[in-house]
Amino acid sequence: MNPTPTAPAPGAEPLAAAATPHLRPVAHFTARDTWLNDPNGLLHHAGVYHLFFQNNREGSTWGPMSWGHATSTDLVTWSEHEVAIPNTPEENVFSGSAVADVRNTAGFAGPGQTALVAVYTSAYTSASSRPGIQAQSLAYSLDDGRSWTRYADNPVLDTGSSDFRDPKVFWYGGDDGHWVMVAVQAVDRQVVVYSSTDLLHWAPESTFGPAHAVEGIWECPDLFPLAVPGTDDTKWVLVVSLNPGAVAGGSGTQYFLGDFDGSTFTADRLCDSTEPADHDWLDYGRDYYAAVSFNDAPDGRRLTIGWASNWDYANDTPTHPWRSAMSLVRELRLVRCPDGRLRVAQHPVLPQAPSAVRVFDLEVPSAPGDRTEVVLSSGDPDGGTLTIALDGDERTVTLDRTRCGAVDFHPAFPSVDAAPLIGGDGATTHLTIVVDGCIVEVYVDGGLATLTQQVFPHQPLTTLHLEPSPAR
Ligand code: FRU
Repeated sequence: MNPTPTAPAPGAEPLAAAATPHLRPVAHFTARDTWLNDPNGLLHHAGVYHLFFQNNREGSTWGPMSWGHATSTDLVTWSEHEVAIPNTPEENVFSGSAVADVRNTAGFAGPGQTALVAVYTSAYTSASSRPGIQAQSLAYSLDDGRSWTRYADNPVLDTGSSDFRDPKVFWYGGDDGHWVMVAVQAVDRQVVVYSSTDLLHWAPESTFGPAHAVEGIWECPDLFPLAVPGTDDTKWVLVVSLNPGAVAGGSGTQYFLGDFDGSTFTADRLCDSTEPADHDWLDYGRDYYAAVSFNDAPDGRRLTIGWASNWDYANDTPTHPWRSAMSLVRELRLVRCPDGRLRVAQHPVLPQAPSAVRVFDLEVPSAPGDRTEVVLSSGDPDGGTLTIALDGDERTVTLDRTRCGAVDFHPAFPSVDAAPLIGGDGATTHLTIVVDGCIVEVYVDGGLATLTQQVFPHQPLTTLHLEPSPAR
């Protein structure tokens, strides 16, 4: 669950406002002038990518939650629209997903129409008759996502739980298939699987967890197949966000590989096995949470977006009036690694036209004995410095943001975070570094590991140089 939202420190906002313009990213979506957190309802429909998002339409910190709405045709240029599903005094509209009900299973569509159906968590407030309860509800659109109507018989799935949320719904199978919902019983660290033929009635199928990282609660699950390279097989990827207790501290996103038969997810090898385990972190930085994928992306692509912040300090980051950004859209594929394991590799969708986003592609020495620093700076000693260090002995890449502009707004923010060097030839490591306003994403060896971090330099990070560093 979210920490209680904190008000910005007195006096913090005018200063932050002055510092904000160069911090607003271009290809990472931000809300115009409000707060956002998790991506919701990611859907491709009629040539348009829809990004809904957790949005406090009244302010710059977490608060009453609605579904904001943005669209894009190229996945890097987003237009924000009116709030799609507004909160009410009785109901906060928590995270969930959206589907195109092309078979009109729910019966919302008239002749010639396709209903888009949002499946979201109703988080009932103290003003409701069910304070604290979380249940799953529907809203639908008959005009390609422009306007949304709540289903009259909400909620459609209610277990009386106060920690049952974040439904991801997708169609499983062909014409005689069915809808699958994965959601969480957050405090139990469990993914719960339900099925339905009409989106209105849901039957329990199975549960998964607790497993792997369980120090925090589980949130925002996703489940999807990816092709196994060099075969006709697929593996299913179960994505689960965790808060706190993630690899870099605070909130983060893990995944499990396994199989799914329309009812039950079975992980291949778990961490208590003596064999290598088939789970990992989707990102090793501090700022990648609640990542979920688009339904119905063209050409079978599996495209994801994460929220580029961390619940430890999300309410305190120094931008105003907008606060928090999404990650870049990432395309996911499975890769067979030198150690024999299958891993998820992530590739950023980058602007094709010239843009303010800076992308650096580098081949950096990383053989045993090598230690190289990639230094990003504004060219001005006071502007801020971000250091990415490759250590050929430790087999790590670390990202140090402790000297990069504003860091002291929260004790958990100034951090040095590490990812393992997994791929490569043992002599060099390929880095793709994307710098866009206050977000830096580092893709290591074709995205076998990624590090996503927020930075708040006093001036834009425009220059990059390499420094071999002395032996320790
Ligand atoms: C994850 C989360 C979800 C919840 C939403 C509320 O960041 O806590 O579990 O639905 O945020 O904004």
